[in-house]
Amino acid sequence: MSKTRNPSLQSRIIVANQEDMLQSRRNFLKGMAFGAAAIIVAPVLSGMSAYAAEGGDKVLILYFSHSGNTRRLAEQIHGRVGGDMVELKTVTPYPQDYDTVVDMARKEQRSNARPQIATEISNLDEYGTVFIGFPNWWGTMPMPFFTFLEKYNLGERNVVPFCTHGGSRLGRSESDLKKLCPQARILKGFEVRGSQVSGAQKEVDAWLKDLGFPVGNTRRF
Ligand SMILES: Cc1cc2nc3c(=O)[nH]c(=O)nc-3n(C[C@H](O)[C@H](O)[C@H](O)COP(=O)(O)O)c2cc1C
Repeated sequence: MSKTRNPSLQSRIIVANQEDMLQSRRNFLKGMAFGAAAIIVAPVLSGMSAYAAEGGDKVLILYFSHSGNTRRLAEQIHGRVGGDMVELKTVTPYPQDYDTVVDMARKEQRSNARPQIATEISNLDEYGTVFIGFPNWWGTMPMPFFTFLEKYNLGERNVVPFCTHGGSRLGRSESDLKKLCPQARILKGFEVRGSQVSGAQKEVDAWLKDLGFPVGNTRRF
């Protein structure tokens, strides 16, 4: 602080200096708040690539669907995040008759079967995030996903479950996924009743946004 003989000027200088100090304190606090906000917001703004520890930036949406509900949900997700959409198919297709497939799926689960799969993914390395979509079958994923996830090691990728169901939501699927992909980062899953898929786009968007995907109205390829 400079010295002066004029007392009123002296007090103005003191007030000015106090204001400077207050201002720099405010700036310092603003800086701190901005820094903290940046740390919290950064992973969200930078999107999913910030999370991907293994694989490239591309998204794979792998889904199984028997009667079409999960396929429609997969299409809604694909319309927002782009990437590649692949249907998980079995060598022997499941029967169309509802009661027959219900019985068959129960037997497969009780015997811990591994139905042979026809789908092959040769470019898994390109994907940093793998969406896994399925109908809830007897409380968890249909057994072909058990075959797939034992055959393909997803490593430390992001794994994002989504499911359609008749009331049991995701059931045990998330804990089964954790066992099948122990190193993967299993992100928050999405579930919707099969009968409500067609009206689910808004909820799908909110979920994807929450996960950090830049959700727009346009496809991103
Ligand atoms: C074999 C089989 C087992 C099912 N088990 C369940 C279940 O345990 N809990 C449930 O909420 N819904 C169950 N459902 C209903 C389906 O999850 C639901 O209809 C789903 O939306 C079907 O999807 P999709 O059209 O993609 O095949 C089952 C359906 C089938 C065919």
